Amino acid sequence: MSKDKYFIIDFDSTFTQVEALDELGAISLQNHPERSQLLDQIKEITDSAMAGQSSFSKGLTERLALLQAHQNHLPQLISRLREKVSESIRRNRDFLHQYADQIYIISSGFKEFITPIVTEYGIKEENVYANTFKVDAQGNLVGFDEANPLCLDKGKIRLLEQLALPGDVYVLGDGYTDYEIKEAGLANKFYAFTENVVRDNVVAKAEHIAPTLDEFLYQNKLPMAISYPKNRISVLLLENIHPQAVELFRHEGYQVETISGALSEEELCEKIKNVSILGIRSKTQVTRRVLEHANRLMCVGAFCIGTNQIDLNACLEAGITVFNAPYSNTRSVVELALGEILILSRNVLDKSNKMHQGKWDKSAKGSFEVRDKKLGIVGYGNIGAQLSVLAEAMGMEVYYYDVVEKLQLGNARKCHSLHELLSKADIVTLHVDGRPENKNLIGAEEFAAMKDGVIFLNLSRGHVVDIEALVQSIKSGKVSGAGVDVFPEEPATNSDPFESELCGLPNVILTPHVGGSTSEAQENIANFVPNRIMDYINSGNTYGSVNFPNLQLPELKNAHRLIHIHANVPGVLASINQVLAQNHVNILGQYLKTNERVGYVITDIDKAYDKQVVNDMKQVPHTIKFRILY
Ligand SMILES: NC(=O)c1ccc[n+]([C@@H]2O[C@H](COP(=O)([O-])OP(=O)(O)OC[C@H]3O[C@@H](n4cnc5c(N)ncnc54)[C@H](O)[C@@H]3O)[C@@H](O)[C@H]2O)c1
Repeated sequence: MSKDKYFIIDFDSTFTQVEALDELGAISLQNHPERSQLLDQIKEITDSAMAGQSSFSKGLTERLALLQAHQNHLPQLISRLREKVSESIRRNRDFLHQYADQIYIISSGFKEFITPIVTEYGIKEENVYANTFKVDAQGNLVGFDEANPLCLDKGKIRLLEQLALPGDVYVLGDGYTDYEIKEAGLANKFYAFTENVVRDNVVAKAEHIAPTLDEFLYQNKLPMAISYPKNRISVLLLENIHPQAVELFRHEGYQVETISGALSEEELCEKIKNVSILGIRSKTQVTRRVLEHANRLMCVGAFCIGTNQIDLNACLEAGITVFNAPYSNTRSVVELALGEILILSRNVLDKSNKMHQGKWDKSAKGSFEVRDKKLGIVGYGNIGAQLSVLAEAMGMEVYYYDVVEKLQLGNARKCHSLHELLSKADIVTLHVDGRPENKNLIGAEEFAAMKDGVIFLNLSRGHVVDIEALVQSIKSGKVSGAGVDVFPEEPATNSDPFESELCGLPNVILTPHVGGSTSEAQENIANFVPNRIMDYINSGNTYGSVNFPNLQLPELKNAHRLIHIHANVPGVLASINQVLAQNHVNILGQYLKTNERVGYVITDIDKAYDKQVVNDMKQVPHTIKFRILY
């Protein structure tokens, strides 16, 4: 351990998330009739002093007068502050203990509440420099020790001069008075600490910014509690992804950039550099060429269901996990399908159109209840199965057909062939996936197999229906009503025209691929995808990834987790375990899953390990990516 570096850490808004005197005011003025005005006044003075805009000693005197505090308030203050220690300080307790001889807390606050808090984190009492209260005979906190340099303007500078620390001095603080130490030539480096507050005039002057203590430790190659500061993880979100996703990533400490539209391949090749997480929707193409430019990419989040726009194999080969949101808009599609079934069964669309033209055409002809009607669901996946449950609740008799064996829900009846289903159903609704073999799954022959006057819905994928055959079936009366949300060719933007032979046909509902487009679905997606990604980054969990072997891992407890992604060739696991054995690493748990291209091995090891193991693991032949979680 090097002894020639000294770390000066500020207390208010740095070691703790709050300003202690503001908190003291909240306690001492609890029952005061002008409580909120007084607290505002105190806060104003604190902010002005912290920003270096007013005399510190004068401000301190004024604040103490306003506070009307008593020493009996201090225990409550201390327990409040204990709860508000900054997150990254809390996390890095080990560093504070290990470097205790070199860490100083220098604050213009008061020792009476600072010392009990910081010593719990290993800081030495003799390294705490702060003011002390003057207490009157009744125990009121009436002033401060005026001989202490820290109650004066430029107090921290005066103290540092007195201390004359014999080495490099690094200052970490949020206030202008912390910056002044460096300005006065008494510190080698000043880091503006922005985890709790960002003071613009301090940040503007600082040559280094530390959004967390982790970043400070990372930049200075000091031991830290996490493997990589989260503020170094940069997220690029394209295509107007819901603000909830932005919020979740920012809250995690990541740097987020958003772009409202999609990017072309060329633009993305440029933009992807240094991005760790890319979020897209359906329009951005993530090609092999884009990935060749991605030097730090760990995850791609598809904020939608489909992942055809992403080269999943190229991602896999580069060790990049891809997550999507397979269930987030299931309910929305089901609700639209149900609504259309009801509307088509009553010919509402044509009746409504006539009304708009001033025509009153009251008649029950061609109008049916859906109760007891046979609903045929083709594709009993997430959407099909959910529709089955809700349709039964409305009294429909549900039949389904799927190419794979699926659990029958409720009273739904399984059909053994598509034709069996088509011949039975009064209403046929498609919920198959978009695999290429499903092109024209429903064509002239299939329409012919349906009952006369059938109602037909496609809210799955455009290419699964032969549109020409559908048009003929509607014109011939075979199909009495249709709801179509997806088309073989869809306009790329809202300003492009939509053309189809379906336009203008009777009792046909056309919607612009909005089955899954609801606020709820957007919000669900914006929660689901970031949570999967953050879980992967924080724990290695790949559960739900569309391209990676799915591993659901236990929580990491008091261990390090080695995450190794490699090409799936024989012998890699043996090589990994050889490295671990040679380095005398104690394995607490190991999890392996492979697919045809990659192997994913997680090894939880003892806290104590030699750094050499990290280098050796990276050298294991066929390694694609390696990282360690603390
Ligand atoms: N309209 C929209 O806005 C919208 C929104 C979301 C999903 N979708 C589409 O809805 C469809 C269903 O979505 P999901 O989440 O239920 O998918 P899913 O993968 O859970 O279910 C699809 C089911 O179809 C089955 N299947 C595939 N081919 C089949 C075939 N030829 N015959 C019978 N069964 C077949 C599969 O085995 C699977 O069970 C997808 O095509 C999806 O793209 C559309």
